[in-house]
Amino acid sequence: MSILSWDDFEDDSQKPAAPEHKSASIDSQKAVNTQMVSDAHNTSSDVATAQPATARKGGTKHSTDSLARASAALETLDVAPGLEELEMGAQRVQVDDKAMINCRADLNQLVPFKYEWAWQKYLDGCANHWMPQEVNMNHDIALWKSENGLTEDERTIVMRSLGFFSTADSLVANNLVLAIYRHITNPECRQYILRQAFEEAIHTHAYQYCIESLGMDEGEVFNMYREVPSVARKAAWGLKYTQSLCDPTFKTGTPENDQILLRNLIAFYCVLEGIFFYCGFSQILSMGRRNKMNGVAEQFQYILRDESMHLNFGIDMINQIKNENPALWTAEFQEEIIQMILEGTMLEIEYARDTMPRGVLGMNAAMMEEYLKFIANRRLAQLGLPEQFAGVNNPFQWMSEMMDLRKEKNFFETRVTDYQTGGALSW
Ligand SMILES: [Fe+2]
Ligand SMILES: [Fe+2]
Repeated sequence: MSILSWDDFEDDSQKPAAPEHKSASIDSQKAVNTQMVSDAHNTSSDVATAQPATARKGGTKHSTDSLARASAALETLDVAPGLEELEMGAQRVQVDDKAMINCRADLNQLVPFKYEWAWQKYLDGCANHWMPQEVNMNHDIALWKSENGLTEDERTIVMRSLGFFSTADSLVANNLVLAIYRHITNPECRQYILRQAFEEAIHTHAYQYCIESLGMDEGEVFNMYREVPSVARKAAWGLKYTQSLCDPTFKTGTPENDQILLRNLIAFYCVLEGIFFYCGFSQILSMGRRNKMNGVAEQFQYILRDESMHLNFGIDMINQIKNENPALWTAEFQEEIIQMILEGTMLEIEYARDTMPRGVLGMNAAMMEEYLKFIANRRLAQLGLPEQFAGVNNPFQWMSEMMDLRKEKNFFETRVTDYQTGGALSW
C-alpha cells in the first residue's frame, strides 16, 4: 500500500457549487427526507449523462426507490423500541436506580455515576495503554536461538508460560464478552469490562508476538491448554464456569442464578487472573531480573500491571454485588467459594511442580507453593473470607515491588516502564 499524498485527495474548489437547499430552515424531518429524494433525482440525472443508457436507467430508478423507502421508514420510526422492556422506560436515570445486577434502568445512560471506582479504573486502564510491538525482542531472539543461552529448565518455563497464557487470555476475554457482560447491569462497569476485553486482546497479541518472534512451533504452544496436563487442568477448571452463563436462556434474578454469576466472577477474577497467572508471571519476571529474555519479561511486566487492575476491579465488583445482595452470601456459599480458591491454589501448585522439577532462576516448587498459599490467603481476605494457610510468608517480595513500580526506570534498563498515554496513575 502506497503512502497517501495530497494528489489522492479531490480538489473541492473544482466542484460545482452545491445546490442551495431551500429546506435548510425547515425543521420538519419529513421535509428534509423529501428534499433528499428530490436531490437524488437531480444528482442521478446529472451523473447519468456520462454513463451508458442501460446503467443510467437502472441506477437512477434504484437510487430513487431506495431513498423513497428510507424516507418512508424514517417517517414511522419509533423513538423508543426496546426501551418499553425496561421498568424505568426511557426516563432519565437517577443514581439510586442503578445496581450491579438485575437492574431495570436504562443501561445506555452512563451518567450519573454510581460506582466512581469503576469509571476511575476505566480511565486508569486507558492511561496505561501499551502495544506489544513497542518492545524490542532482538536480544530474546538471539538468546533463544543460541545453543547455550538458556538451560533446558529455563526453556521449559518460557514454553509453558507462553503455552498457558496464549490461550488463558482468550478464555478470559471470551468469558467477559460472551458470559458476564450482559449480566452486569451497570454502564460504568460495562465500560471497564469493554476496556478489559481489549486489554485481553492485547495480551493475546503480546503472547503471539513473542511466539512468532522466537520462531516457536505455534501448533505446539497453542495446543498446550489441551495437551499438557498441568496447563489443560487449569483451563478446564475455568471453562466449566463459563458454560452455564453462555447458555442464551440463562438469566439472573433468582438466588440460584445470581450465585452462578458470582461463582463465575470469582472463578475468573480471583482464581484465573488472581492465582493461575502468578506462577508463570513470577517465573518469567525472575528470568528478566537475571537479564534473560528481557523482551518477553517486559511484555509480562506490562501484562501484570494490567492484570492486577483486572483483579482489583473484579474484587470491587464482587464485593459490591455481595453488599447489594447479602442473601446470596450464605455460610454454605462462602464454604463453596473457599473450596474454589483452594482448588485453584492446588492446580497452580501442580503447575509449579510440573514446570520446575528442579530449582531454577533462584526459585523452586516449594518456594512457589508458599508464594501461592500467600496469594490465596490474600484473595480470601479480599473477599472477606478467612485465610486458609497459617504462617505463610511472601518469599518473592520483589514481585510486590514489581507490581508497585511506577516511575522507576525498569530493571532491565531498556525503557521506562511507566508507559502512559495521559493522566496520572496511582494504584
Ligand atoms: Fe490478560
Ligand atoms: Fe485479565
